[in-house]
Amino acid sequence: MTDSTSRRGFLTGSAAVAAAGAVAAGSARADDPAITEVQPWAQMLGDGVDARPYGHPSEHEAHVVRRHVAWLTADPISSVNFTPLHELDGIITPNGLCFERHHGGIAEIDPAQHRLMINGLVDTPLVFTMQDLMRFPRENRVYFLECAANSGMEWRGAQLNGCQFTHGMIHNVVYTGVPLKYILEEAGLKTNAAWILPEGADASAMTRSVPLSKAMDDCLVAFRMNGEALRPEQGYPLRLVVPGWEGNMWIKWLRRIEVGDEPWHHREETSKYTDLLENGVARRFTWEMDVKSVITNPSPQAPITHGKGFTVISGVAWSGRGTIREVHVTLDGGRNWQQARIDGPSLPKSMHRFYYEFDWDGSPLLLQSRAIDSDGMIQPTKNELREARGYNSIYHNNGIQTWHVRENGEAENVEVS
Ligand code: MTE
Ligand code: CO
Repeated sequence: MTDSTSRRGFLTGSAAVAAAGAVAAGSARADDPAITEVQPWAQMLGDGVDARPYGHPSEHEAHVVRRHVAWLTADPISSVNFTPLHELDGIITPNGLCFERHHGGIAEIDPAQHRLMINGLVDTPLVFTMQDLMRFPRENRVYFLECAANSGMEWRGAQLNGCQFTHGMIHNVVYTGVPLKYILEEAGLKTNAAWILPEGADASAMTRSVPLSKAMDDCLVAFRMNGEALRPEQGYPLRLVVPGWEGNMWIKWLRRIEVGDEPWHHREETSKYTDLLENGVARRFTWEMDVKSVITNPSPQAPITHGKGFTVISGVAWSGRGTIREVHVTLDGGRNWQQARIDGPSLPKSMHRFYYEFDWDGSPLLLQSRAIDSDGMIQPTKNELREARGYNSIYHNNGIQTWHVRENGEAENVEVS
């Protein structure tokens, strides 16, 4: 190590200590009863190990829940709720907080009665029980699932006040499952096989055409998320995982995969999940979820409450094309950009966590984040998206989000031109 690198290391270290010291000095008082008094929870014995066979968060975390927007859809049976991104940290979404999107409500399936059928252009049509599937080699991988409609309500302008609502149609968990390739190879593919049609066992019997090349590349037939069985909301006992591609293709309650030689052009890839451009032509088969990021703290549901001084900005970034190479943060609506610090695992097609720490002087902020992925794709502004695609779109809005933070620390959803 040279002199200059060791000095730099020392300076960074002392700056971090100084910052931590400033925070501690601001919040601790010697006569604070939380320090001087014996608290109620120390005056009696707590619950034993038989009280909570399945654990739940503290009652003080009761506000950390999925939420829906009543006016968005006609009925909760065919609706969506949102992940509370502003209440989370790190990169993993806890199972009970993963947003839900279903078109026919939650199917409650007895795994003993569940089957996965493979038919169509295969040598041998096959039917698997859950037990059969457990005898294939399995893999564990972390992926984000983002609905193509995430941020869709913001296409024409700033609307919903909170990153839970503007960006919460995403979750990021570790899946355990069997590579779909192994299952298709077991059935044997005909030479003209080119597409698959996965189908759900729920009342909506959802289907989507997926190119065979993707199916053979990195798709999983998953039965676990974050170590435990899939939740009913997420497709128990079996769901398709289509890494980096729009959530609609990740068929839940997976019961059948048909192999064909061309796409089926069903509802979910014609009237839905296509983007009508200004010239009347629709973009279709826009499967990949492009590079995107959002600042989760502060944000409208998570104002700055500590006043000016040392402030931690935090957020998430992701890309369906690979990893996140860099995230930049601006405090002044895009005039000056600073490099944020990515912390935690940087995995392809998975959420990344970033932080930007700074000394807030208490003046209003126009906060934005901008991500760049491993393909070199740069997250666009919303106006750049509108110039390219017009105003009719709902899906695939990966534009830069702006939060206006006032002197009192409150934040609101705005746009800068
Ligand atoms: N699969 C079935 N069988 N039925 C559905 O309604 N919704 C799709 C997809 N798979 C759906 C489905 C949509 S639009 C999305 S965004 C994701 O599942 C949502 O997955 P999640 O509920 O785990 O968040
Ligand atoms: Co969706």
